[in-house]
Amino acid sequence: MKTLLIVHHTPSPSLRAMYEAVRAGAATDEIEGVEVVSRPALTASAPDVLEADGYLLGTPVNLGYLSGALKHFFDQIYYPSLDETSRRPYGAYLHGNSDAAGALRALDSITTGLRWRAVRPPLVVNGDPAKADLEACWELGATVAAELAPL
Ligand SMILES: Cc1cc2nc3c(=O)[nH]c(=O)nc-3n(C[C@H](O)[C@H](O)[C@H](O)COP(=O)(O)O)c2cc1C
Repeated sequence: MKTLLIVHHTPSPSLRAMYEAVRAGAATDEIEGVEVVSRPALTASAPDVLEADGYLLGTPVNLGYLSGALKHFFDQIYYPSLDETSRRPYGAYLHGNSDAAGALRALDSITTGLRWRAVRPPLVVNGDPAKADLEACWELGATVAAELAPL
């Protein structure tokens, strides 16, 4: 059994809707052999990261950066994870109201440092998530889960 860890900061209804869609995609019955574990970014720990085989990251864009909560997560896990999690697959979703460029740069820089492997480019939604946005969230979750599924 593989483990897919969702680390998310979910302070608003828009992010709640995106999180639930990502989680539903990750846990779809169509993919077998993957257990989904979910942790708020402020409580996720290095052991959670080491015990997982892949990651889904969710955050709002705040002040041109990742949320403080997701930054705190990375601050906690960075060095303990560096040697053991190289090449593990991840996906990410971000929610903002205008401009996610700074947050995307930060995410790229951190995950490049960790040598995590993006299964697909980060998904950015601005404003109220439309049906197509939530479908894209579902696809993101399912795609990362499928990457982990045993053949
Ligand atoms: C302090 C603060 C700073 C923010 N900075 C940005 C920003 O730089 N870029 C952006 O696109 N959205 C920004 N936002 C909007 C948040 O990303 C948005 O409020 C969050 O994703 C929750 O979405 P919702 O309020 O529509 O439910 C900011 C929000 C707050 C509270």
